Amino acid sequence: MRGQRVLVTGASGFLGTRLLAVLREAGAAVAATSRTARASSSEITWYQADLSQPEAAARLFDAARPEVVFHLASLVTGRRGIELVGPAFRANLATSVNVLVEASRAGCRRVVLAGSMEEPEPDEPAGSPYAVAKGAQALYARFFHALYATPVVTARIFMVYGEGQGDVAKVIPYSILEALGGRPPKLSSGARPVDWIHVADVAEGLLALARAAKIEGRRCDLGSGQLVTVREVAERISLMVGGPPPEIGALPDRPLERVRRADVEATAAQTGFRPRIPLAEGLSRTIAWYRAERAAGRL
Ligand SMILES: NC(=O)c1ccc[n+]([C@@H]2O[C@H](COP(=O)([O-])OP(=O)(O)OC[C@H]3O[C@@H](n4cnc5c(N)ncnc54)[C@H](OP(=O)(O)O)[C@@H]3O)[C@@H](O)[C@H]2O)c1
Repeated sequence: MRGQRVLVTGASGFLGTRLLAVLREAGAAVAATSRTARASSSEITWYQADLSQPEAAARLFDAARPEVVFHLASLVTGRRGIELVGPAFRANLATSVNVLVEASRAGCRRVVLAGSMEEPEPDEPAGSPYAVAKGAQALYARFFHALYATPVVTARIFMVYGEGQGDVAKVIPYSILEALGGRPPKLSSGARPVDWIHVADVAEGLLALARAAKIEGRRCDLGSGQLVTVREVAERISLMVGGPPPEIGALPDRPLERVRRADVEATAAQTGFRPRIPLAEGLSRTIAWYRAERAAGRL
């Protein structure tokens, strides 16, 4: 990636922050977007853009002239409420369509879209406003590749955790912070088996998807290939922190929850990428980070 012009959308977020660090190390010339104005540095040029607006996407591509795009901008929530249908459509699908149009016009070498394990299979209904928008994003990616030869790859990303996750309502940061505070985390049945992947592995995986040859039009899994239930993860955290055990069944289960496991062999064959951080190590690093943030009064 050395010297290449790389654009990261949603770069202020959990994955974006980590990806920026990896791209800087790889020597890329990085442009980044946020809807909030941010100061550029010698290493990163920030652009303020709401990419759900086509004109904003066009202005951004004119200014940044990227060769490679990582599209991470998104409204990331598994909540089911109907009030989220419009916002999820705009943040997760309209932004992607606008980015695909501009990247195709600009002749970008590679576009990597952040997809999700929540995307429905062709024969099943989506389980949330987020899931249906991500499913539609994958359809648009195939369409752009088939009709306009856009070199787009969708990363089907599994459940990400790790240092720096700002949404502390997500189950791992929530369980850690409750345990550190000496309170039992309140959970649903926790019976859902989930494929967890550490944020550092996801950043490396995204980079691999930008580099690999002959994967245009494909969808590649970024997960660990291992299923561990939410309950087991929360119980492990309580033990590691030395906090009270989680209160299982305190909350209702969400409807239409799917069980998916990443096909790590297929991703390795297509890109050479394999995740490296086992769950035990990832949890221990994550707990240490939240402990330090809490001690410093930042959480
Ligand atoms: N975290 C996970 O477990 C996970 C799992 C599977 C897939 N993914 C996917 O990975 C990507 C990154 O996730 P993340 O966890 O890093 O999410 P995040 O922390 O919420 O970051 C996403 C960023 O997107 C930006 N954004 C939202 N709406 C936008 C819009 N209309 N125009 C431009 N920017 C907009 C926001 O930044 P500003 O407020 O600064 O604009 C936000 O910080 C997302 O596409 C997500 O769906 C994440």
